[in-house]
Amino acid sequence: MKRGLVFTVILALFVALAGCGGKSSEQSAGNGEGKKKVVVGTDASFAPFEYMDKGKIVGFDVDFLDAVMKEAGLEYELKNIGWDPLFAAVQGKEVDLAISGITINDKRKQTYDFSVPYFESTHMIMVKEDSPIKNALDLKGKVVGVQNGTTGQAAVEKLLGAENKNIKKFENTVVAIMDLLNGGVDAVVTDNAVANEYVKNNPDKKLKAIEDPTNFESEFYGLMFPKGSDLKPKVDEAIKKVIESGKYAEIYKKWFGNEPNVDNLVK
Ligand code: ARG
Repeated sequence: MKRGLVFTVILALFVALAGCGGKSSEQSAGNGEGKKKVVVGTDASFAPFEYMDKGKIVGFDVDFLDAVMKEAGLEYELKNIGWDPLFAAVQGKEVDLAISGITINDKRKQTYDFSVPYFESTHMIMVKEDSPIKNALDLKGKVVGVQNGTTGQAAVEKLLGAENKNIKKFENTVVAIMDLLNGGVDAVVTDNAVANEYVKNNPDKKLKAIEDPTNFESEFYGLMFPKGSDLKPKVDEAIKKVIESGKYAEIYKKWFGNEPNVDNLVK
């Protein structure tokens, strides 16, 4: 009887200690007891979707993920692991899924599974206010910055040619925008919400964001899973509920200030 108690205390201590090793860039939600946590990866350099604020990962995606995981009854932790490593981490199942403003496309679908779409996007061109660039065709002959491995890169390659030396690829979108401010590139092509938010929130930087619906297509974001993940059906159900219940609109308004058009998401 007594021995049993001692053993229980030692076991409890061990479990408590084992739980203390989290890195600073990890965030947990839920009561932390019982079930195995779902590990979610992101690249937190893509405001307003995911970015670091006072040591925490915040953004539209972060709030949306939280609503979806609560709806699905899943405990999770969110890890900031960077854009290129994210794809390898999902493929190698080091994370259970990724949320990172990731566009669903046929190429990625060959390697990964995606949730139902949760956000509609297109590309925009960020330039200095006094730039002569007016549309996507004006990018010819200009040095254009993109985040490596994004659909922005693909969009610019389609316009300028994949081998074009004028396409400068950056590890993340923050450094691409820094290079634009420093005059290293003439333009940055990135997702419209990211371009718009940056321009609006940084008036001192004197940048503008240009749309071009003729040359840039519409695309949709999804959560990305390893192929065959059994989480997908559960998460899809939860996403639909979050959108239909109005929770999605609430989160959208918090980050974008207006009502979303969800007609294209859940049909
Ligand atoms: N939507 C684009 C893509 O999927 C860019 C996403 C970049 N996201 C990020 N967190 N850096 O390629």
